[in-house]
Amino acid sequence: MTDRKNGQDSARVPTLRWEGGPEGQLWLIDQTLLPLEVREIACRTVQAVWDAIKRLAVRGAPAIGVSAAYGVVLGLQAASPPSPAGWLAAAEAAADHLATSRPTAVNLFWALNRMRQRARELASQGASDLPGQLLREAQAIEAEDQAMCRAIGLAGAALLPADCGVLTHCNAGGLATADYGTALAVFFAAHEQGKTLRVFADETRPLLQGARLTSWECQQRGLDVTVICDSMAAQVMREGRIQAVVVGADRIAANGDTANKIGTYSVAVLARHHGIPFYVAAPSSTFDWEISSGQEIPIEHRQAEEISRGFGRQTVPTGVKVYNPAFDVTPHDLITAFITERGVIMPPFAVNLPTRLRVG
Ligand code: MRU
Repeated sequence: MTDRKNGQDSARVPTLRWEGGPEGQLWLIDQTLLPLEVREIACRTVQAVWDAIKRLAVRGAPAIGVSAAYGVVLGLQAASPPSPAGWLAAAEAAADHLATSRPTAVNLFWALNRMRQRARELASQGASDLPGQLLREAQAIEAEDQAMCRAIGLAGAALLPADCGVLTHCNAGGLATADYGTALAVFFAAHEQGKTLRVFADETRPLLQGARLTSWECQQRGLDVTVICDSMAAQVMREGRIQAVVVGADRIAANGDTANKIGTYSVAVLARHHGIPFYVAAPSSTFDWEISSGQEIPIEHRQAEEISRGFGRQTVPTGVKVYNPAFDVTPHDLITAFITERGVIMPPFAVNLPTRLRVG
């Protein structure tokens, strides 16, 4: 694995990028090092991409999906023999392995299934340039994600008053997508339109995506941003500082129940109590039409040390139990609207979501 260090200014460093042709490599910003250091790491094997996803060097539902798509292209480089059948076997093996990295974000499985389907089509045609064509498929997934993020930003910006306080949880910005973000795209677009925003970023225990990543992205783009502890959100709302909550999503069931970073559900309850609109911003690749409600969403559980020894210092007595679900599910009735690349979708979600978003 090669590193490229770029100081703290990431203005020109993309979250992820493919370098070269089908024999090339995937570069990722190692997000575990932010905000202190912007360092790119090169992934040259499927296992390197798997590790990067697992340890959250790359994270956020759409960014995981795009990275995994490129991971399949890396898998083809080791195909033996380098023939349509060999490439298909390598693509299937890479997709199977990458699918075990993290369970909750459906974008991972969506992107892997798309790569599988394309590989099967190409292999059945005996395509001699299957690696090149699969690289183009991964690049299309990346480009589509970028376009969806821009559309989400424009659709969501229209919902925000000209002068307002907004709160978000975790990081749903350019670091979590191929570019620009989902929830943060709404803030970025409103800011670019000249609206005055005061962004409050929940720090997002235990891995501090809000404190480390959201505040950093907002600062890079010149937004007014304030980090608060997760436990302060109720007080900040009661003080009248928040006019809208916007969060991202990892998987949305057909009825609108939404899995996102642990703590999102509490924020939705607080928003309802204080009469504040609660918006979920997500591309269509985050909707899982196979499941009817949030009860079916698999929730990732992560190691105890993220809580008991977060960022290096032990804060829980040795031997005490720790519970660490990485996501929770916000019931659809706490959600005011979904902000998607196809516009803002209002309730009833069980009717309006599939009508507006489902293809086929
Ligand atoms: O564990 P993470 O950091 O991958 O969790 C990320 C989130 O929960 C994001 O809010 C979600 O993936 C949406 S990103 C556009």
